[in-house]
Amino acid sequence: MDLTNAVPGRPDGQLQDYEAARQVSWDEEAKQFTWWKTGRVNAAFEAVDRHVEEGRGDAPAILYYDGVRDETWSFRRLRDDAAQFGDALRRLGIGRGDRVFLFMPKGPELAVALLGIIRIGAVAGPLFEAFMETAVQDRLADSGAVAVVTTPTLRPRIPRERLPELRHVILVGAEASDAEAGEWSYTELMKEASADSPVEWVDREAPMLLHYTSGSTGKPKGVVHVHNLMIHQYRVGRWVLDLRPDDIYWCTADPGWITGTSAGLFAPWLHGVPVVIRGGRFQQEGWYETVEKFGVTVWFSAPTAFRMLMAGGDELPKRYNLSSLRHVLSAGEPLNPEVFRWGLRALGNRIHDNWWMTETGCTMITNYPALPIKPGSMGRPLPGIEAAILDDQGRVLGPNQLGNLAIRAGWPGMMRAIWNNEEKYKQYFPFEGWYISGDSAYRDEDGYFWFQGRVDDVINTSGERVGPFEVESKLVEHPAVAEAGVIGKPDPVRGEIIKAFISLRQGYAPTEELKQEIQQFVRNGLAAYAMPREIEFRDKLPKTRSGKIMRRVLKAWELGLPTGDLSTMED
Ligand code: WT7
Repeated sequence: MDLTNAVPGRPDGQLQDYEAARQVSWDEEAKQFTWWKTGRVNAAFEAVDRHVEEGRGDAPAILYYDGVRDETWSFRRLRDDAAQFGDALRRLGIGRGDRVFLFMPKGPELAVALLGIIRIGAVAGPLFEAFMETAVQDRLADSGAVAVVTTPTLRPRIPRERLPELRHVILVGAEASDAEAGEWSYTELMKEASADSPVEWVDREAPMLLHYTSGSTGKPKGVVHVHNLMIHQYRVGRWVLDLRPDDIYWCTADPGWITGTSAGLFAPWLHGVPVVIRGGRFQQEGWYETVEKFGVTVWFSAPTAFRMLMAGGDELPKRYNLSSLRHVLSAGEPLNPEVFRWGLRALGNRIHDNWWMTETGCTMITNYPALPIKPGSMGRPLPGIEAAILDDQGRVLGPNQLGNLAIRAGWPGMMRAIWNNEEKYKQYFPFEGWYISGDSAYRDEDGYFWFQGRVDDVINTSGERVGPFEVESKLVEHPAVAEAGVIGKPDPVRGEIIKAFISLRQGYAPTEELKQEIQQFVRNGLAAYAMPREIEFRDKLPKTRSGKIMRRVLKAWELGLPTGDLSTMED
């Protein structure tokens, strides 16, 4: 092995012998669950009820703090509230397979609702609270959601008149008198419901989660995950998060993204480990304070967040007691070696990069405690996962050859469908037996994987995956915009920012004011993070003869690179 610049591993990690671990079958993992004996499956039961039934009901499940509320929720309290919420849903006529969305800030009630939905065999669709009307509408409409759990503040962004299938809106933090027709106060519903309501036993292959994510074309797609995902999450909890019974775990991701549900809640709860939930937005001091206040031992965040902390300087973290930290992780975008080195200095820890996607369900490629880290590498495949680099014909490439990052299909946490879109689902599997990620990467001779970029036009801004099409669609709704092409532009803090090239309709002048107006238009219609931070007006945009905007050419313009083959471009 060439480990010249590698940072040595910590000898005490739970994943020690990589080759031996690769021999441990997924069935071996499945035996950890009660359903292996009882035959009765439900991921919410395994994550929460089980601990109560096995005598660990008083152990903490949630440590919540938002500056005002400061609460510890035991597994028993979480189980009871989730069961009660599930009963409330049943009383509204909601059950197996129905899609119920969550559109609310993170906190104990979000966790209760998520578990309650899954506990009755319904499918939870978590939405990020930054979504504005169009983003909310697209996702609720596509999935045919029957109910949404939200707050009075976010309710105006749900266009009920355009969502005929949406029967119920459940308002957290509202009085009964605030509720209009078809709306319910969460508190009132809970009062009438019973915590004795039974778990709905389902099939391992029954859907439980619907996470919307972006591709390069078309509207966001609903990635369907099934209860069987728990097996994958459990293994990740042990070998990637390295969780032990006394750990205090904090994953900063919002449950609107898969990181927030899979790594954020299920993986730790399946191990009976409490999760810290910090309400509110990112804040340098506030984050260090949170680590100190709760004595966080395992911390999972994203490169953007670490870069923002790094921007605060090396002195700031020294003012806090961060000595509880034992294991730090990062996912969502490339972890720069510079940030890794900052982690060593400021956090006294190696930051363990790990790679995965909404579609993969949980971690696929990872740095784990015992592994020497080569800064900049994503690490090695999780035991049980076979990763490879394929060329465009589906042939497996050797070491140090750049190609398509692919995974042998059929791992337990793999998405099972794209909601209502078989065609899109099939596109992930162009070669027999392989899932194609859309990322390009290479593998070195030691089996470490190195991320290179996206193969398609998907943008990763501050760890958030944005489909250019969704932004372009919003842009062309603006009366001044004739055509729009959107690309990701490299940015030192955000990884990429969104840049829009726009041609204007007749009669509109390319002014600074108009730029700002267009930015606000996207911000208010779609989401703040989807707003193009840069806009450039052009008389004409490069298009194919069939009228498709050539983002590749826009990108080349932006980066000052050769534009490549232009044979399909219109005159
Ligand atoms: C895309 C998936 C962590 C899962 C939640 C994000 C990029 C993810 C890494 C990493 C470089 C990464 C990829 C991937 N990505 N992790 N460790 N290094 N890039 O899930 O929103 O579905 O985005 O995020 O491009 O395809 P997502």
